[in-house]
Amino acid sequence: MLQTKRAYTEKEINGLHLRIYASHQYLYSDAVKILFNHLSTSKNRNIGLATGATFEPFYAELVSQCKAMGKERLEVNTFNLDEYLGLSRDDPNTYATYMQRHLFSKIAVEGSFIPNSNAAYPEIEASFYENLIRSKGGIGLQYLGIGTNGHIGFNEPGTATDTITHTVELSESTISSNSIYFKTARMPHKAITMGIGTILSADKIVLIATGKSKSAAIMGSVMQDPSPDVPASALRMHGNATILIDAPAASSLRL
Ligand code: PGA
Repeated sequence: MLQTKRAYTEKEINGLHLRIYASHQYLYSDAVKILFNHLSTSKNRNIGLATGATFEPFYAELVSQCKAMGKERLEVNTFNLDEYLGLSRDDPNTYATYMQRHLFSKIAVEGSFIPNSNAAYPEIEASFYENLIRSKGGIGLQYLGIGTNGHIGFNEPGTATDTITHTVELSESTISSNSIYFKTARMPHKAITMGIGTILSADKIVLIATGKSKSAAIMGSVMQDPSPDVPASALRMHGNATILIDAPAASSLRL
């Protein structure tokens, strides 16, 4: 049964907690509040972070809520989900640079970790990153976006649900969605990503999706039979995953 509460409509469906927002302002402000609630209730201050266009307003809101509270520093360790391979770390297209631009140049954090885009041995870098997450105590709260093909991190369709951090060949769909951000350089076709198993090990997961282009991926993740063809459908196994979406991203759901 649908329940209307403040700025969103919510529904529990197939093990997922879904909130559909009419306004991006409330969606992002709640997404940030979830982080502060987590920090006030959990000892695990390791936060898994996502990038992409979806997360630019998230970081703007996080910075603005921090400033409003007079905070210039967050006592968290951040772990990014993924990173391109074959770019120098300070290349304008790396997620390291994205994080610097949108968050770390504005708010300090205790520690920030992102796979090395320029690793000489990417497989060793991937296993180092997985071990780093484990040695720091695992992820307490993991944020995710979703690709139009249903990927989470760079776990492309077909990825097994028990994968740990690994290197990937990006799919045609991801290359075509993301290459618009590469104005001058050729977009890399390889990346390092936390695996679906790494993501599912987080205590709590929040996925954000906005826009009509995500509606089929949301539909496949939430309502169709779980399948590696739609990697985000693995979130149904987690038990503590919340999906925050706007009305266009929800438009293919039959609620
Ligand atoms: P986007 O990317 O926010 O740029 O759409 C999301 C993703 O690919 O996970």
